[in-house]
Amino acid sequence: MRGVILAGGNGTRLRPLTNLVNKSLLPVFDRALIEYPLNTLLKSGIKDILIVSGREHSGDFIEYLGSGRDFGANFTYRVQEKTLGIAHALLLAEEFVGKDLMTVILGDNVFEDTFSKAIKTFSGGARIFLKKVPDPERFGVATLKGKLVSAIVEKPKKALSPFAVTGLYQYDSKVFDIIRTLKPSARGEFEITDVNNAYIRNKKMKAEFVGGFWVDAGTFHSLAEAVEWAKKSEKT
Ligand code: DAU
Repeated sequence: MRGVILAGGNGTRLRPLTNLVNKSLLPVFDRALIEYPLNTLLKSGIKDILIVSGREHSGDFIEYLGSGRDFGANFTYRVQEKTLGIAHALLLAEEFVGKDLMTVILGDNVFEDTFSKAIKTFSGGARIFLKKVPDPERFGVATLKGKLVSAIVEKPKKALSPFAVTGLYQYDSKVFDIIRTLKPSARGEFEITDVNNAYIRNKKMKAEFVGGFWVDAGTFHSLAEAVEWAKKSEKT
C-alpha cells in the first residue's frame, strides 16, 4: 500500500496568508497542517508516501519534512506545475504507485479517526470515507441507497444528503486510466468527484463513515476549528 498526500492548490480561501505560505504549511497549534494528514497515514501503517505540491512552495515541503527519516518513513516529492485539480495532482503518483494499491489524503484534512483496518482490508476498486456535517454544500456530497453510494455531487447548491465526502480515498491503479478519460469541470479542474463517480458507475465503490473529529481546514473558520481541536487533544 502506497500513501499519497496532495498538497498543491492555491489556497485562495486563505488569502493573504497563502500568498506567502502553502496552505498545508500553515501552523495548526504546534505543527504545520500537513503533519495531521501525514500522521493519519503513518498511524495506519503506511510508510512509503508521495507528497505532491505546487511549484512555488515545493522547496518548503522538503525543508519542513525532509526525507522521512524523522518520521520513520520514506518520502518522495513531485511538483504539480499548474493547479488543475485534485485528480490532475493524483496523476503525478502513477509512477510512484505502479500496480500497487493507494491511500490518498488531501493536505488540508484533519482526522481524529485512524484507518489501519480500512487499509489492511482494502483489496481493489475504490473506497471513500463519509462524514455527516451541518454544511454539506461546502463539499462533495454523497447520496446513499442502503449502504451503497449512488452518486456524488461536487458542492451542490442544495445538498440531497448531509454526507460529505472527506479528503481520504483508496484506489487501485486503474484510477490513472480513469483520470485520463476526464474532462475539466466548469471551474476548469479535473475533479476527484468525477473519478469517484466513475468507480460508482462501474459498481466498484465502497463507502465507510468516519468517527470523531474531522475538518477540511481550507477556510479561516475551519482552520481555527482545527487549531482548537489540536490544542484540546494535546491536553487529554
Ligand atoms: O475536504 C474534502 C473536499 O475536498 C471534498 O469533499 C471535495 O469533494 C473535494 O473536491 C475537495 O474540495 P475542496 O474545495 O476542499 O478542494 P481544494 O481545492 O481545497 O483542494 C483540497 C486539497 O487538494 C488542497 O489542500 C491541495 C490539493 N490540491 C488541490 C488542487 C485544486 C492539489 O494538490 N492540486 C490541485 O490542483
